[in-house]
Amino acid sequence: MLSTYAAAAALLLRAASATDVYAHFMVQNAYAYDVDQWKYDIASAQQIGIDGFALNWIPPDCVNGLGWTVDRIDDAFTAADSMGFKLMYSFDMSYSSCNVYWNQSFMGEMISKYSSNSATPRWNNNILVSTYGGDQVDEYGNDFFEGLKSSLTGSNAITLAPGLTTYSMEAGSEGADPSSAASSMLSDFSSADGYLNWQAWPLNVDSNMTTTADEAFQSALKSSSRSGPYIMAVSPWQYKDLNNGNPLDSWVAYSDTLFVDRWQQLVGDNAIKPDIIEILTWNDFCESHYLRNLPDENDTSAKDYVELGDMGAYVWGQNHAPWRIIAKYYIAWMKQGYAPAITMDQVIFWHRVHPKDTSCYGGSSTAIRNANMPADAVFAWALVSQKSTISMSVGSNQYWEFEADGSGPSMGMVPFPDNANGAVPEVSIMRGGQAVHTSNSTQAISTDCSWQNFNPVVNLVGPGINTG
Ligand SMILES: *[C@@H]1O[C@H](CO)[C@@H](O)[C@H](O)[C@H]1NC(C)=O
Ligand SMILES: *[C@@H]1O[C@H](CO)[C@@H](O)[C@H](O)[C@H]1NC(C)=O
Ligand SMILES: *[C@@H]1O[C@H](CO)[C@@H](O)[C@H](O)[C@H]1NC(C)=O
Ligand SMILES: *[C@@H]1O[C@H](CO)[C@@H](O)[C@H](O)[C@H]1NC(C)=O
Repeated sequence: MLSTYAAAAALLLRAASATDVYAHFMVQNAYAYDVDQWKYDIASAQQIGIDGFALNWIPPDCVNGLGWTVDRIDDAFTAADSMGFKLMYSFDMSYSSCNVYWNQSFMGEMISKYSSNSATPRWNNNILVSTYGGDQVDEYGNDFFEGLKSSLTGSNAITLAPGLTTYSMEAGSEGADPSSAASSMLSDFSSADGYLNWQAWPLNVDSNMTTTADEAFQSALKSSSRSGPYIMAVSPWQYKDLNNGNPLDSWVAYSDTLFVDRWQQLVGDNAIKPDIIEILTWNDFCESHYLRNLPDENDTSAKDYVELGDMGAYVWGQNHAPWRIIAKYYIAWMKQGYAPAITMDQVIFWHRVHPKDTSCYGGSSTAIRNANMPADAVFAWALVSQKSTISMSVGSNQYWEFEADGSGPSMGMVPFPDNANGAVPEVSIMRGGQAVHTSNSTQAISTDCSWQNFNPVVNLVGPGINTG
C-alpha cells in the first residue's frame, strides 16, 4: 500500500512540474497552407510531444500582399481547435525596414478574435502572448506594451512574455553578467510579465551553451514576483546566408552538439525547469533550424510550398526530420520526469556537407561569421534497446566506434578525413559482430561545390517516426 501511495504522490509531483512545449512557426512560410495542411503539421508536432506553435508574423501591411497571413491564422485556429493544440502569438516586432508597424488596436483585435477558441493558450486565466523583439524598434518599447495590455481586459486580458533580443544577447555575450541583463530587462519593461530568452545559440563563441542566462532570467522574474512564464529556447542549429556582400548577414553559430546538450539540461536530477520550452524552430528554413519535413522544392502546387530563393541553395536536400526523434525522447523525459523506456534501435547522425575551409562557387564563401568554429565531423546520437556498438565511417576514417546500451542515449563522432571529397558517411548499429541496421547519409561531403553551406543534413539509422 505504502508504495502505491508513494507512486501516486510521485505522479502528482511530476504532473505539477510538466513543461509545455511550443515550436516557433514562421507564418510567412505557410502561404500555401489550408486547414488540412495545418492539421498535418500539428499532428506531426504532436507526435513528438509539442503542445503548440508560437506563430511568428510581421504586420500584414509591411510587405505588399501579406494580408493573407490573417486568413492562414484563421485556418490554423480552426485546425488547432479540433486537435487540442495551442497557438500562441509571437508578434515579430523586429522589422523596421518597411515603415509599417504593429498597432495596438490591430493586435488587440487579433488577440480577442480567438479569445474563446480552445487553441488560445492561457496563463493565470489570461491569454498568453509572446513576441520576437519589441525592444529594438523605436515605435515599440515598454509604453507600447503597457498600452496594449491596458486595452485588453476581462477574458481578453493578456500575460505578456516578450522575447527582447537586446537583453538576451547581452546575457549571452562572452564575459557578460546575465543577472545584470535580466534586471535591466525587468526595470526597462514593467510590462513584461514573463520572458522568452531568445538566445538559444552560443553568441559568436565556440563554447557549449550553459543555462546561466536562463537561470538569471528565470530567477529575476521570480524574485520580482512577475506572474508570467519563463520561456527557455531550445534550437538545433543556426546558419544563415543572405549572400548580400554584408558580412553581418551571414553567420553560423557553434551548434555541433547543441541540440542534445540543450535537451540534456532539461532532464535528470539537475534539470532546469522553465515554465515553457520554445523550440526554435518548426519551419524557419533560412536560418537552418527547422525540424519540420522539407517541402518539395519543385512542386509549386504543394500545400506547404515555399519559395526560398538563393537561400534554398543551402536548404534543399538538407533534411532535419530525424532530429525530431531526439526531441521526442527528451520531451517525454522532461514531461514525465523519468527517462522513457527504449524500445527501438535508432541512431541519428548529422554532418555539414563541405569542410569548413572549402570555397564554394556561390554564396558568401569568405565572409561567413564564425566559419572556423564548427568541427569537420559527423556527429551521432544513439538510442538503443540493448548493448550495441555504433560504428561510424567517413572516407578513409573507417569504423570509429562508441558504445551504447539501453540505459539512455550516448554520443559519438568521426572527423572528416583529409581528403573528404565524395565521402558518404555510413553508420551502423552492431551487435554480436553483426550490423543490425546501417544507413548511408543522404548527402556526400564535397569540396567542389556550387554553394557555400553550413547547414547540416540529418540522417536516421533504424526504424523511424514519420521523418519524410
Ligand atoms: C493597424 O495595423 C493594421 C495591420 O497592419 C492595418 O491594417 C491598420 O491600417 C493599422 N491601423 C492604423 C491606425 O495604423
Ligand atoms: C562541447 O561539448 C562536447 C561534449 O558534449 C565536447 O565534445 C566539445 O568539445 C565541447 N565543445 C567545446 C568548444 O568546448
Ligand atoms: C528540383 O528541380 C531541380 C532543377 O531541375 C533539381 O536539380 C532538383 O533535384 C529538384 N528537386 C527535387 C527535390 O526533386
Ligand atoms: C552505403 O554505401 C556503400 C558504398 O556505396 C555501399 O556499399 C553500401 O551498401 C551502402 N549501404 C547502405 C545501407 O545503403
